[in-house]
Amino acid sequence: MGSTVEIRIRTLATGGDAVGHRAEADASEPATWFIPEALPGELVRAHAARTARKHVVGVIDEILEPSEHRVTPPCALAGTCGGCGWQHVAPAAQLGLKLGMVKDALRQLGVEPVLGDAPPVGDGLAYRRRARLHYRNDGDTFVLGFMRKRSDEVIDVPACPVLTAPLRHALTRLRKVAALLPAHGEVHALTDGKHVALGLAGVRPTEELRDALEACLDRVLIGVELRGGRARIRVGAPVLEIDGGGGLPPMSASPFVFTQARGDVNRALLRHVLGRAKPHGKRVLELYAGAGNFTRALARVASRVWTCDDDRESVGLLRKLAEAQGLPINAKHGDVAALVPRIAGGETRYEVVVADPPRAGLGTEATRALAVVATERIVLVACDPATLARDLAVLVKHGWAIDEVAVFDLMPMTPEVECVATLRPRAGKAPAKGPG
Ligand SMILES: C[S@@+](CC[C@H](N)C(=O)[O-])C[C@H]1O[C@@H](n2cnc3c(N)ncnc32)[C@H](O)[C@@H]1O
Repeated sequence: MGSTVEIRIRTLATGGDAVGHRAEADASEPATWFIPEALPGELVRAHAARTARKHVVGVIDEILEPSEHRVTPPCALAGTCGGCGWQHVAPAAQLGLKLGMVKDALRQLGVEPVLGDAPPVGDGLAYRRRARLHYRNDGDTFVLGFMRKRSDEVIDVPACPVLTAPLRHALTRLRKVAALLPAHGEVHALTDGKHVALGLAGVRPTEELRDALEACLDRVLIGVELRGGRARIRVGAPVLEIDGGGGLPPMSASPFVFTQARGDVNRALLRHVLGRAKPHGKRVLELYAGAGNFTRALARVASRVWTCDDDRESVGLLRKLAEAQGLPINAKHGDVAALVPRIAGGETRYEVVVADPPRAGLGTEATRALAVVATERIVLVACDPATLARDLAVLVKHGWAIDEVAVFDLMPMTPEVECVATLRPRAGKAPAKGPG
């Protein structure tokens, strides 16, 4: 360990690392430090783990002045497990810190983000309805859990407190078949609040494993899907109906397709997206639609919704939903980055565009094309404030104005944050050509 320095933490970077500066300047080293697990306002003593050209990545040795938001983590594995990251932050303070993080990321755009209307975080425990875990199996020991912090070693997490009770129950049952599982692999877990479906990737189904899994099923764990090579087999019924009610048809989801991690906040997010998109009677393009989380609400009032997603299973589930509910949805399997520039080069336009890309965001080229393809509103959902800021800057440059950015917390106990940006064409923006 090198020498230690005192750092006053100013803010949080996207991703949750704290950013601070050395108290005493030393011209031979960068002054900016990124320190995981420190909090704004804190004074910490730290040493350098890695020095880059413009910053140092530090490790805390001692917290000299702790933040008022620092608490004793409720999880005993908090210092070791890489699954959460914010167990040491008071649950009531987490959303405010996330809002600050988004504010900093969007500062250049002059946007003041607001809190979305959603249920409170509560104690931040037992909320997570979807998780991807890892296992290692050397014949004697079976380890099932998450990666150790800043490592690719899997650590055993026998009762993760952020998972809902049905997920914890199902994972305990899965341990019964440990002897029949390969040396390493992933477990995808999803619950509708009552039942659980598990997905095991990279596992070739043997007769023995099928029988053992069959014996594991109960009133909670109702299905397991195995995918290994070309083989896909289902034991029980590993497809769940989630988030229906209040006039909305439920969405069918398997453990392998994307679903939001927290049900109650997802419903609030969905209401928000619908309220901002105002799709009534409009032609809607929905990019990165997944299995139809937003689509089923948009399509109830839109003239038609055209969707795109590159996950075949999600597209298949959405097509089935559209058919079963008689909803006006055209679900396309494809790559958004290729599709949007192609649309922009033609005549077809959409009054409303909703996009919910993964962490990498839309990217500059697709965003430039989107600025042409949409005519009245763009609702951009994003889980990385940094890539959101980049994509918004492109839209602003190409004639769009940001009406609002709202912030939601779908993943308490982690620095993850969900943002929804709503945009309209700026006065004087050249009108895009209409359809055909
Ligand atoms: C954040 S999820 C959103 C899904 C859906 N909106 C929801 O709320 O459940 C992102 C989706 O983008 C899809 N995706 C990722 N990269 C893509 C790409 N290049 N083209 C099309 N879809 C992509 C994934 O399959 C996933 O369904």
